[in-house]
Amino acid sequence: QTTLRGAADALNKDIGIAVNYNLLQSSAQYRTTVATEFNSLTAENAMKWDATEPSDGNYTFTQADAIVDFAEDNGQTVHGHTFVWHQQTPSWVQNLSASAMQAAMVDHINTVANRYEGRVDSWDVVNEVVSDSNGALRDSFWLQRLGEGYITTAFQTARAADPSADLYINDYSIEGQNAKSNKVYSIAQGLVNQGLLDGVGFQSHLILGQVPSDMEANLQRFVNLGLKVRITELDIRLQTPADATELAQQASDYQRVANICKNLADCSGITVWGLRDGDSWVPGVFPGYGAPLLFNDDYSKKPAYTAVLNAW
Ligand code: XIL
Repeated sequence: QTTLRGAADALNKDIGIAVNYNLLQSSAQYRTTVATEFNSLTAENAMKWDATEPSDGNYTFTQADAIVDFAEDNGQTVHGHTFVWHQQTPSWVQNLSASAMQAAMVDHINTVANRYEGRVDSWDVVNEVVSDSNGALRDSFWLQRLGEGYITTAFQTARAADPSADLYINDYSIEGQNAKSNKVYSIAQGLVNQGLLDGVGFQSHLILGQVPSDMEANLQRFVNLGLKVRITELDIRLQTPADATELAQQASDYQRVANICKNLADCSGITVWGLRDGDSWVPGVFPGYGAPLLFNDDYSKKPAYTAVLNAW
């Protein structure tokens, strides 16, 4: 194979990219690379609540529509991201009373899922609902106002709104077995028993040289629940500037993740969280770190690109 897309198609898996709406609009080379190298799209920001319902009942789909249209034009699937999150959710939602917040959540999921029924193949229904510190649910405004039942309500609503979409729970720092992934596991068990969950998304915002040694075993235990697993937001950051040794280590880290997904028939795919290093969210959030993706800023391919291509 000569493209990631060709290799992924041959394995019947998704190779996805988090698409930036502004770049999709402005750059023909970006569009060509996204269309050539990837068979699945996720909106990096355009399907989040602040983008799709900035004020109560006022839905804005220009950016999300453009991304779904692009996917359709290029024969790509769409993994939707996301309905219920504690970030990039407008303050009008966060300030609602319990009953109004519940109604807003249900209306939001219904409206967005219905709009893209048949065009978005899978959804991150809830994102980052588990705490980093204690293996409990995250102490978000959702939990504070609605109690833990909000997760089940979100999945019930999404299931009814688009019965054909695969529904995922998505989180970070759950790639290995730890208190956080154990909590996701118990939530997943409960949702599976109710027929409400199809997959678990492992964001996989990783650090150079730190692919968890038990990552495959950890994903396998979720597969054993009857679930799909998916690497939903892969990037592997390093302290910039990168030297050749680090880029080789990064390639070997990417290769390991690619092999883990290849080894698991129920791994639906890998989505990389951005195209070129300069497009990445990493430098803005992790000072001193960057260069976490597969392409250089001039669209040339990094060693990590070749490693994924060869692994698949
Ligand atoms: C990030 C985007 O990449 C940024 O452009 C935005 O400013 C903030 O969100 N976990 C997630 C993603 O689920 O939605 C986040 O995306 C990265 C962390």
